[in-house]
Amino acid sequence: MERENFNSRLGMLLAMVGSAVGLGNIWRFPYLVGVHGGAAFIILYVLFVFLLSLPLLISEFVIGRASRLNAYGAYDKLAPNTIWRYVGFLSVLSPFLIIAYYDVVGGWSLHYFFEACAMSFSQSSEIAGMFSNHISSPFAPLFTMGLFLLMTCVVVLMGVQSGIERFGKIMMPLLFLVILAIAIWVITLPGASEGVKYLFKPDFSKVTGKTLVAAMGQAFFSLSLGCGTMLTYASYAKKSDNIGSSSLQIAFADLLFAILASCAILPGVFAFGVDPGEGPGLIFETLPMMFAAMPLGSLVAIFFFLAVLIAALTSTISMLEVVIAYLVEEHHASRKAAVWGCFSVLFLLGVLCSMSFGPLKDVTILGKTIFDCFDFLAANILMPFGGILACVFVGWKMKKPDVYAELTNEGSLRFMSKIYPLIYFFIRYVAPAGILCVTISNFLL
Ligand code: PHE
Repeated sequence: MERENFNSRLGMLLAMVGSAVGLGNIWRFPYLVGVHGGAAFIILYVLFVFLLSLPLLISEFVIGRASRLNAYGAYDKLAPNTIWRYVGFLSVLSPFLIIAYYDVVGGWSLHYFFEACAMSFSQSSEIAGMFSNHISSPFAPLFTMGLFLLMTCVVVLMGVQSGIERFGKIMMPLLFLVILAIAIWVITLPGASEGVKYLFKPDFSKVTGKTLVAAMGQAFFSLSLGCGTMLTYASYAKKSDNIGSSSLQIAFADLLFAILASCAILPGVFAFGVDPGEGPGLIFETLPMMFAAMPLGSLVAIFFFLAVLIAALTSTISMLEVVIAYLVEEHHASRKAAVWGCFSVLFLLGVLCSMSFGPLKDVTILGKTIFDCFDFLAANILMPFGGILACVFVGWKMKKPDVYAELTNEGSLRFMSKIYPLIYFFIRYVAPAGILCVTISNFLL
C-alpha cells in the first residue's frame, strides 16, 4: 500500500503547529510566566527556542524526511542493524506515555467546556473548590478523559490526509481566532494594563537557576520535541519542502500562540486581583473566578475552554500518530486495529493517572504520584534524551553529504546552502550540549 503524505505544505505546517500548540502553550506557559516573573522568563524562553529547540526540530525533520518512515523504522533504515533502532523505539514509547497523563488534563478541559456551556462560571461562590472536587472524584473525570481519548482516536483513524491534515486545517485557524479575540477583549478591560506591563517589562532580579531550567524545559515540551512526533509528521512531508523555513515558521507560530495565550490570561488575572503565581491550577481554578467577575465572562469561558480543548486534541493526535505509524509499518497492523488497541491500553493507563488525584493519591513511587511519575519520566528523562540523541544522530552518525542534501534539497536552496555550516554546528555541538546541561541541572537544582 502506498504511504500517505500531507497533501499540501500549508496542511503540513498546520498539523505540526497543531502538535506544538497545546496545553503547553495555554496551560503551562502562562502559569510559568506567572510563577517566574513575567517578561524575563519570556525572553529566556525565546532564546532557548532559537538556540536549542530549532536545531533539534530541524534534526527531527531531517531524520523523518530522509527515511519517510515511522520513528523506529527511520533510525533502523538510516543506521541499519545498530543500537540506534532502540532510540527509535524510545521515540515511540515516550509519546505513548505522555498521552497517558496528557489526556487526563485533556479530559479536565472537556469537563470545563461542558461546565462553561452549562453557565457554571457565573458565580464565584460556586467555583471555589470545584477543581479539586472534580479531579479527586473517582469516576467523573474518567468519563471526559475517555471521551477525549475517543475523539483523538477517531481523527487518527481517518488517516493522515482526511483525518490529521483536515482537522488541523479547520481547527488551527479557529483556535487562533478564538485566542486572539479573547486576548483583545481581556487587554481592553479596565485594570488590565498592570498585567500587560508584567508581561512585557522584564524583571531580571527574579531569574534563578530554576527559571533557566523551566524555560529550557518549556522550549522543548512546547515544540513537541524529542519524542518522535515532529519526526513522524516530517516523514509525511514532500521532498520539495524547505526544512529550514518550515521549522522556523513552526517555532514562530508556537511562540505567537504562547504569547497570545498569556495575553488572554495574565492581564485579566491582574484586572480581577487574582494571583498570577498560582501555578498549575491557574486556568482551572483562577480563571473561572476571573470569568465570574468579568463582563460577558460566561460566554468568554465557553470559547476559552473550547480553545484549550482544540489545542490539547491536536497535540494528542500527533502523539498517537507516532505509535500508530510504528504499529502499522513495523508490525503490519491495520490502522483500525492499531488505533483501538492503543485506545484500550491508553484508557487503562489514563485511569491510573486520573485516579492518582483521587482514590490512588497515596500510591507513590519515589515520592511521586502515578500522574507525576509519567510526567517526570516522559518530560524529564525520555524527551530530553530522545532530543539529544536525535541531534547526535544527525550531527555525528548520518553522513554529512546526506544531511546537506536533505537540508538544501540537493543543493537547490541557495540560502540554506549558505547558512548550512551554521545550522550543522548548532545541531552537532550547541543543541546536544545545551540540552544535556538542562537535563542534568534539572536533577541537581
Ligand atoms: N507541544 C505540546 C504542547 O505544547 C505537547 C506535546 C509534547 C505534543 C510532545 C506532542 C508531543 O502542549
